[in-house]
Amino acid sequence: MAKTRTIHRCSACGATAPQWVGRCAECGEWGTLVEERDRPVAVIPSTGAKPVPIADVDPVGATARSTGISELDRVLGGGFVAGSVTLLGGEPGMGKSTLMLQALGLMSDAGATCLLVTGEESAEQVRMRAERVGVLSPNLLVLAETNLPTILTHADELRPQVLAIDSIQTMHDPELPGVPGSVSQVRDGAHEIVRFAKANGVTTILVGHVTKEGALAGPRVLEHLVDTVLAFDGDRHHALRMLHALKHRFGGTQELGLFDMTSDGLAEVPDPSALFLADRLAEAPGSVVAPILEGARPLVVEVQALVTPTSAPMPRRAAQGLDNGRLAMVLAVLEQRTGISTAQCDVYASVAGGVRVAEAGGDLALACAISSARLGEAVPSDIVIMGEIGLAGEIRSVPQAARRLAEVGRLGFARAVVPTGTPAVDGITLVPVATLAEAIVRLFPASCA
Ligand code: TYD
Ligand code: MG
Repeated sequence: MAKTRTIHRCSACGATAPQWVGRCAECGEWGTLVEERDRPVAVIPSTGAKPVPIADVDPVGATARSTGISELDRVLGGGFVAGSVTLLGGEPGMGKSTLMLQALGLMSDAGATCLLVTGEESAEQVRMRAERVGVLSPNLLVLAETNLPTILTHADELRPQVLAIDSIQTMHDPELPGVPGSVSQVRDGAHEIVRFAKANGVTTILVGHVTKEGALAGPRVLEHLVDTVLAFDGDRHHALRMLHALKHRFGGTQELGLFDMTSDGLAEVPDPSALFLADRLAEAPGSVVAPILEGARPLVVEVQALVTPTSAPMPRRAAQGLDNGRLAMVLAVLEQRTGISTAQCDVYASVAGGVRVAEAGGDLALACAISSARLGEAVPSDIVIMGEIGLAGEIRSVPQAARRLAEVGRLGFARAVVPTGTPAVDGITLVPVATLAEAIVRLFPASCA
């Protein structure tokens, strides 16, 4: 019997300290250290593998099982790979349990035996939700249990094709140190599940809560354990939900999946651009349409600005769906390079529909929305605007211009204000601009006359 000793572990970052301290020396969080018994190192038997030439290794037929939800399949590159382990992270209330229930329901309808282990809700609650989202398949089994050895015994008897654990933070192995949700329980419990999944070829999904800072609760080590990490997020006040892969051993991490949280569960959003533009008031000052990129997916969104005079010594700048730093930079460049001043004004800027624009390709659209609001002159409704703004007021090219413009063309826009050098596309008249001042003159002729 190996000797155990007491250590203190940070529940935020997983760092250890020999004695309790108020603040973690590693990540700086306060009050996160918890006592735990250090576990003796587990003895993992050798696999008996020998070095072989790489070309002689048998290729794995990494067959992906479609989840029946095309937005989820898109992010996974076709579906869940057999025997893979996926971590689905997201803030509480995002819809992780709903997404899992719907995916397992559809996979079981397609003939796979699926086991949904619920540690947070009772089997009755899951049934109610399954009725609501319409997945009462006979192949979908529910197990309301948090004792990990019991769960693995059931899973071993049943040998489901797909196993989902909701959530990893509620699971508990009495043999392991710590309370449910503690770093050692989450980490070592996940280890056991991964071992089971790999040994038996069971496609496994672990649901995990993330903290308000966006990190997966428990140590980052969970991310190393699994093949795929999916992040489910969105704006609390909007129904739009975004699914990204942060890590994916079987494909790229560029795709974006979009969902709408409805009263009947998550609905796919196959045409997000049309949704984002549906409520647009065309020809209203302060509204500009911009083609942006979210990962590899072109989205056409509406950027809005409202500029109102104020006598306050510190005018307000509020950005929603946009980076505050970029808004400040765009305002400074506008003032210095075009003379459009907002020094005596409150400025509100937002992206309609709950999307976040994280890339610089939306700069020019933001600058034009602010200018349009400030000058009181609308941008014609058939125009879209894209380009990055440099500090000298120059307009820089954006990546994947052709993909963005293809999406713009599909939605029926006729003209695009673009950086010089953007290749022509069929059906859209390009208006190339070299500087922000040039864009302002072209777009607001009445104000610049
Ligand atoms: P849930 O899947 O429980 O989120 P998570 O597992 O990430 O914590 O769902 C979260 C919210 O979604 C919940 O507050 C209620 C709402 N919801 C709907 O609006 N429609 C539905 O059909 C369902 C099932 C949930
Ligand atoms: Mg849940």
